[in-house]
Amino acid sequence: MCGIVGYIGSREKKNIILEGLKELEYRGYDSAGLAVLKDKEIDFFKAVGKLENLANKCEAFSSEGFGFAIGHTRWATHGKPTEINAHPHLGEYSCVIHNGIIENYKEIKEKLEKEGISFLSQTDTEVIVQLFEYYAKDMDAFDAFKKLVSELKGAFATLLISKKEPTKVFFAKNAAPLIIGKNADETFFASADAALIGKVNDVIYLEDVSYGYASKNELLIYENDILRANTFVKLPSDKAYAQKDGFRFFMEKEIYEQSNVLSEVLMGRIEGEEIIFDELKNENLKDVEELSICACGTSYHAALSSSYLFNRLSKVKTSVEIASEFRYKDGIVKENSLFVVISQSGETADTLEALKIAKQKGAKTVAICNVDNSSIVRLADYSILTRAGIEKGVASTKAFATQILTLWMLAIFIAQKKGFDMNKELKALRHIPKVALVTQKLHDKIHRLSKRYLDGHGFFFIGRDVFYPLALEGALKLKELSYLHAEGYPAGEMKHGPIALADSKLYTIALMPELCLYDKTKSNVEELIARDSTVLCISPNEFELSDDFIKTNKQEHFMCEFFEMMIIVQLLAMEISIRLGNDVDMPRNLAKSVTVE
Ligand code: M6R
Repeated sequence: MCGIVGYIGSREKKNIILEGLKELEYRGYDSAGLAVLKDKEIDFFKAVGKLENLANKCEAFSSEGFGFAIGHTRWATHGKPTEINAHPHLGEYSCVIHNGIIENYKEIKEKLEKEGISFLSQTDTEVIVQLFEYYAKDMDAFDAFKKLVSELKGAFATLLISKKEPTKVFFAKNAAPLIIGKNADETFFASADAALIGKVNDVIYLEDVSYGYASKNELLIYENDILRANTFVKLPSDKAYAQKDGFRFFMEKEIYEQSNVLSEVLMGRIEGEEIIFDELKNENLKDVEELSICACGTSYHAALSSSYLFNRLSKVKTSVEIASEFRYKDGIVKENSLFVVISQSGETADTLEALKIAKQKGAKTVAICNVDNSSIVRLADYSILTRAGIEKGVASTKAFATQILTLWMLAIFIAQKKGFDMNKELKALRHIPKVALVTQKLHDKIHRLSKRYLDGHGFFFIGRDVFYPLALEGALKLKELSYLHAEGYPAGEMKHGPIALADSKLYTIALMPELCLYDKTKSNVEELIARDSTVLCISPNEFELSDDFIKTNKQEHFMCEFFEMMIIVQLLAMEISIRLGNDVDMPRNLAKSVTVE
């Protein structure tokens, strides 16, 4: 996710900003930029790629003496990772940096374009600075800032400097973090603690719907339009801990982040009752007769899950293949079919090669990917970014969640093009970020349960329909992290062989959603219980025969049950492996991105 830093003071501002951005590198980025306001002049620099590139660009620039500076690292979501799209974004006499997504940026842009204002970048962020200057023509700079902030919808943490008011930094925050730190003569801003540790001891964590300004001697913060007291709290001092936002592992942080990144997946992509994919603007996909999906590992499980949705909602015949298998199969890619590849990194060699083959065969290709400008994104005809932000844990969690949601939306998108009513799906979609919130009660329960699952001669994760690929994913998570043997299996298939393994030391994790083949799955679980298997059932319906039970919430759509159970299997794998003393973020023998065959 993007990183923000800001500074008011007399030290060399360029260095302060670059140091701060360096501390936020762990959040991932593909371009960076900074701007300095001093003596009523603004200097700015931007560069694609690593911070070294930005440092090189401003090597000859120096800015000692009192002034204001802002800096940003960008993870592309709206528009390519280019210099033009990098922050700060500029108006005629102001510039802005921003984290989050301005949901209503299109409406604002259209309004301003009608007034003759032209835009340079493809980003949502640029509307902030253009709208500011539009209002600042007729009013005081802070009033203009307030007015523009009141029009923004979505998530934003933003800093703006302007020659119109060269003694202030304006800031606003909603649904994206922004922290202000102060010592005697200096003020610092950052999107995460790590950038402030060592610089200040006391900070204010801004609440949502906050805005204000800071100058040499003033700090004014309005919360819901009411001026609040500046009450500082102590900043933590451990950087590694701060980078994980206080979680023990990046994976744990990423599991908890899922609700937020899922909101980002939805942002700007539902208009009224319709799904909008700007990325597919020129494709209506109505006539697609077949879908082929190719991916590896967790991304393959997302693919398999989505095949049920493409069949059921879009009424499109869908085949799914593991990319390394597709490569040497001389697979048939039909005319009027769409070839979809899914990849978190966009660099997985097998998936990239499958994409090349499909292109050579003349298929129309779409990449569902988390990293803009990756090899896969560059090669595919169309790409849809999954907006998960950088994923540091080798075991994929939030990338999977965002892939599933994106694919579900794509299935709805195609169904809508065909004229099917998708209102029930849209209602459920909107509910997903709430479903994906992790509660302390659930986490504690899974932690307690996990001690009973540290040995045994194997695990079976079982489920039916879309819960079968989720069972595969649960088993993969457990394998990767705990090094215990685990398999995912279709619940109805156990009786065709694997049930021979059943005894008390065979652990079965049964996914038993209420809204998707509950009775069928229940019978399959009873077959295992009759053979003395130890069974952990995950379901909203009490099941007295199970050895262990995790009760999920009653939902209105089976996909809501899917996301809730997804979190449970992720936490279970993590808690088991913590108890086993394994390295959760970097399991043995694994790499985050597999760029070899
Ligand atoms: O970057 P990709 O999504 O293409 O990576 C595919 C797999 O290598 C990846 O999902 C792997 O299975 C993860 N370690 C799963 O947790």
